[in-house]
Amino acid sequence: MCGIVGYIGDRNTQSVLIEGLKKLEYRGYDSAGVAIYTEEGLEVKKAKGRLSILEGELSNRPLVGSIGIGHTRWATHGEPSDVNSHPHIDNSSKFSVVHNGIIENYIELKEQLSAKGHRFVSETDTEVIAHLIADVYDGDIVKAVQTAVKSMRGAFALGVLTEYEPDRLVAVRQASPLIIGIGENENFIGSDIPAILEYTRNVYILNDGEMALLTKDAIQLMTLEGNFITKEVFRVDWDIVTAEKAGFDHFMLKEIYEQPKAYRDTMGSRISEDANEVVLPELNLTAEQLMNVTNIHIVACGTAYHAGLVGKHVIEKLTRIPVDVDVASEYRYRAPIILPSTLVIVVSQSGETADTLAALREAKRNGAHVLAITNVVGSSVAREADDVIVTWAGPEIAVASTKAYTSQLIAFFLFGVFYAQTLGKTDATEVATVIEDLQQLSSQVEQMLHQSARIKTYAEEISAHDHLFFIGRGLDYAVALEGSLKLKEISYIHSEAYPAGELKHGTLALIEPGIPVIALATQEELLEKTISNIKEVKARGAKVLAIAMEGNAEIGKAVDEVFYIPRTRAVLSAALSVIPLQLLAYYASLARGNDVDKPRNLAKSVTVE
Ligand code: M6R
Repeated sequence: MCGIVGYIGDRNTQSVLIEGLKKLEYRGYDSAGVAIYTEEGLEVKKAKGRLSILEGELSNRPLVGSIGIGHTRWATHGEPSDVNSHPHIDNSSKFSVVHNGIIENYIELKEQLSAKGHRFVSETDTEVIAHLIADVYDGDIVKAVQTAVKSMRGAFALGVLTEYEPDRLVAVRQASPLIIGIGENENFIGSDIPAILEYTRNVYILNDGEMALLTKDAIQLMTLEGNFITKEVFRVDWDIVTAEKAGFDHFMLKEIYEQPKAYRDTMGSRISEDANEVVLPELNLTAEQLMNVTNIHIVACGTAYHAGLVGKHVIEKLTRIPVDVDVASEYRYRAPIILPSTLVIVVSQSGETADTLAALREAKRNGAHVLAITNVVGSSVAREADDVIVTWAGPEIAVASTKAYTSQLIAFFLFGVFYAQTLGKTDATEVATVIEDLQQLSSQVEQMLHQSARIKTYAEEISAHDHLFFIGRGLDYAVALEGSLKLKEISYIHSEAYPAGELKHGTLALIEPGIPVIALATQEELLEKTISNIKEVKARGAKVLAIAMEGNAEIGKAVDEVFYIPRTRAVLSAALSVIPLQLLAYYASLARGNDVDKPRNLAKSVTVE
């Protein structure tokens, strides 16, 4: 996955591209580059490493022009290097291309083009696109692109520029996200809305198989076959500062502190005015359809998968409908049994994760109704699902997901209650008390955030360790998995999450004197059992921090330290118990001097398989 941006108009093109790429760096930051048509012709500048390196090089010799394309790369084919960076050009240097996605048949295409005399300099799949376009060009860049894409297989969002037609910018979308920003006497392309939000709030969201021709004062939308189409303008109503750090040192910390608002916004108008019912007017699913559902598959990746594990507990507890949770990259390859009565729930912050999207398509092919929980309106997942519950967390920029995860939990709580209401599984009084507890969560998170200094001190202590363990039972185990992923992802400390009762079946051998163990113990009906497991690790010298529910004095006697979360009902506890774990990962990463928002080897949105 990568980020692409393009501009045509009278502004300083170089700076529009660089500013746009800064907003897209979350998609990849192995290298960056721009191609701008200047007085000298089509000029390309690219550099391995962070965008700031390219920016520095461009400041020594700026490229001046009124049309250009830019790219920030997350390497797939070919190592991060100057030569593998985008934009890629053909041998005549007259055509340049930026690409997000993967060309699956690039080797075959490369062989065909090589046989015709094309010479390749990079290891990328993208370079073949520039050569293909050059090969078929006959005076019209739109036609050349349409012809070229016919022979390409895979996923691609493209920005294409040719020196022969320096007043035309071509954009293509096929299975990778792309939007067109509509300006006055200027137009834009971008992988995502923040890239162009500084300049316009009016956008077209391209669908797969669509393309656009941008000139300074017009945008022509068409299919890849060349049929002209019209589209509604999508008006973006979120504000640019929402996507900035707002005074926090890192996006991740800002996003952790935005969680109370994200909880409130996600609940929003989904709770009836008298607070007696959950209402989900956005769902097309009828009560009758819901009543006929026999089982649920939840499918997602990474943190969203962990939200799905919590979702399983919540839905099964409230409705007694069986739920399976699958990692999206495994789902379609295990030939899942999808019945017409199976409801498939896909969860994705970005709504662009390739494996989640493929799982969604597999489910639809098998006739299932697909409900998406996503944070991005207009994303591929949102557009392809039959139903969508949007998590109103706002843009999440840090690679490590925090507010999107907890908003996904809120979405599951709301859906679980709504479903139970529909099935008549809970009486009205019970629903009202669950809703009361749900509404408390945001202020309870605020309360916990006031105690972040304690977690910071603990994080600084554990930052000197190379290994640690998270343990928990039931819902606590689901949260332990998320705590462990968060810590690994940004602090690079190796950690593992285990169901507390499973340690003695092998992993206990790894417990040595002094090793930190974080025990989640919020589920009171399992508390005694968890305490026994804590004693097992304590007896082998582990230093245990427990995360427990306020009022549980007993656990204090069994561990070295306790962090209490405010009291809530067991089924909602994950929305609170994960907060200290997010802070722990953040402060441990900081103590180790890591780049918190952009951890090594990772990108925010994984749009390749
Ligand atoms: O955008 P998605 O929710 O589909 O992304 C899924 C995962 O890539 C994502 O949650 C990833 O695990 C996070 N970086 C974890 O913090």
